[in-house]
Amino acid sequence: MPGLSGPSDYSLEPPRHPCLQINAKEPFNAEPPRSDLVSSYVTPVELFFKRNHGPIPVVDDIKRYCVDICGLIETPTKLYMRDVRMLPKYNVTATLQCAGNRRTAMSKTREVRGVGWDVSAIGNAVWGGAKLADVLELIGIPKLTSSTRSGGKHIEFVSIDKCKEENGGPYKASIPLSQATNPEADVLLAYEMNGEPLNRDHGYPLRVIVPGVIGARSVKWLDSINIIAEECQGFFMQKDYKMFPPSVDWDNINWNTRKPQMDFPVQSVICSLEDVQPIKPGKVCFLCDHGFIIVTISGYAVAGGDRGIERVDISIDGGKTWMEATRFQKTGIPYIADHISSDKWAWVLFEIIVNIPHTTEIVAKAVDSAANVQPERVQDIWNLRGILNTSWHRVHVRVGHSNM
Ligand code: MTE
Repeated sequence: MPGLSGPSDYSLEPPRHPCLQINAKEPFNAEPPRSDLVSSYVTPVELFFKRNHGPIPVVDDIKRYCVDICGLIETPTKLYMRDVRMLPKYNVTATLQCAGNRRTAMSKTREVRGVGWDVSAIGNAVWGGAKLADVLELIGIPKLTSSTRSGGKHIEFVSIDKCKEENGGPYKASIPLSQATNPEADVLLAYEMNGEPLNRDHGYPLRVIVPGVIGARSVKWLDSINIIAEECQGFFMQKDYKMFPPSVDWDNINWNTRKPQMDFPVQSVICSLEDVQPIKPGKVCFLCDHGFIIVTISGYAVAGGDRGIERVDISIDGGKTWMEATRFQKTGIPYIADHISSDKWAWVLFEIIVNIPHTTEIVAKAVDSAANVQPERVQDIWNLRGILNTSWHRVHVRVGHSNM
């Protein structure tokens, strides 16, 4: 593609923030410390997790850069940045979550394959760009179309990066045409992240954002868009990012038996405490009051589709009893799940201040607006690729010199 190229080695990687925990160096995969996620509703770009499958592409000439739109349409088109910028610009606050978030915890119960992620393969950003529904209308596909006259039912996004899993070919994924042409689904061709042009790690010059859906479908460094009859046959749609039952292992797997994962399930994570959090009374930010230790429990909760977060339950006795945390998005505006005032694609931060008497297990579980609840045990949702670990999030607080 003129203007954009995919290097075959890692000599042209961009600079990155030193705070990121690197889970794989080449391709670069890194996440911020969990406590940074609750410092702000909108995650700063430099602390946003980075998930790559190859070297980061390079823009040689932004004026020549364009996206080829082809496949089952009458007139194949070239879409230049100026064409995208001429369309109405939308700012959509949406949480991007990698399906592999919390994989490391899943691998502790039984081995899984994939990059080891802690709890921060997730971030919330304001994505600026054109709606894909408007772009498709521009090339003659009306809003709310589920099939074109020539049988197109899916929109495939193809990148330019060179991925080992695709034998050196580009990363690609697709979404149904009905979703792509629905303005309410807010699928974007984004050129901005938090008010700044996208940086190279996050897809400069143009990426797809599919809100409410696992991050794998939000293709970065867009090179072409194909209107196709069946869903994309690429590796990351057909041989990865599918959810299998615990009975399936590498000896009996049949990838064709499952659909590619799209929406992510309800999730919540405590970010103010590490998985094993020693607390020395009087030290750091833990206060003592009549023998109790006052602990702030805060974190994020998010639901896929366009479901909101109805509740976040916190237990300070390992899940025997529960209390409700407060939820918030923007300061000064009360959060109400699925209300017009709430960002429907964005996470909700939660907080509760508790008194704990001794060493204990603190647990978080969220409930979404369809009353879906996180599963209790990671064993019950174990899957060989270690995706979608949404089990109750547990942290162990060790008080003083207790050896419990
Ligand atoms: N797009 C391309 N071209 N190459 C990739 O490796 N990774 C996907 C998606 N889009 C990927 C991609 C995955 S798995 C995720 S979770 C998100 O990008 C991560 O986006 P981020 O790096 O901007 O956080």
